[in-house]
Amino acid sequence: MLLQQQKETRGRERTMEAKPEEKAEFEEAEIEYVSYGGEHHLPLIMNLVDQELSEPYSIFTYRYFVYLWPQLSFLAFHKGKCVGTVVCKMGEHRNTFRGYIAMLVVIKPYRGRGIATELVTRSIRMMMESGCEEVRYLSYFCLGNIICNDEY
Ligand SMILES: CC(C)(COP(=O)(O)OP(=O)(O)OC[C@H]1O[C@@H](n2cnc3c(N)ncnc32)[C@H](O)[C@@H]1OP(=O)(O)O)[C@@H](O)C(=O)NCCC(=O)NCCS
Repeated sequence: MLLQQQKETRGRERTMEAKPEEKAEFEEAEIEYVSYGGEHHLPLIMNLVDQELSEPYSIFTYRYFVYLWPQLSFLAFHKGKCVGTVVCKMGEHRNTFRGYIAMLVVIKPYRGRGIATELVTRSIRMMMESGCEEVRYLSYFCLGNIICNDEY
């Protein structure tokens, strides 16, 4: 019951994020997901994060993530426009490996259609293939366990 109420509240909050006229018209199949592919992707990631997250980051912070773990960061494109991104890292933790989701953004007109879920799922899959046994959100970003599936 409580879970249902929380879901409905979240749904209402999300629909308030973008007015109906600002919602993008698209089919899920039109969204293209690509792994971080090099320096040309960096300004796209930085633009999205700067727009949507309050924390200001220097280019060195972004580079730290994408240079060391390029395979863990993904971008979502719609007709050539970057509409979402996830930036992650992984590291050793008590004789095992742990993945961290550092930044996660989808621009407002594209929210509520599963793009963040797909981005996170792809990153987590790569983390698991690389030996991670658990995944966390970095503490300075707080999304809780909303996007992740229990199976992770
Ligand atoms: C959070 C964010 C990335 C979600 O993107 P999205 O593509 O709309 O997410 P999805 O459509 O994949 O939603 C997946 C689940 O996340 C939850 N969710 C999505 N947006 C949410 C929000 N704003 N608040 C709370 N829960 C949210 C929903 O429970 C949804 O599950 P459901 O399908 O059961 O309803 C997007 O709202 C965003 O960029 N927000 C601003 C930046 C931010 O807060 N980033 C997270 C911290 S790093």
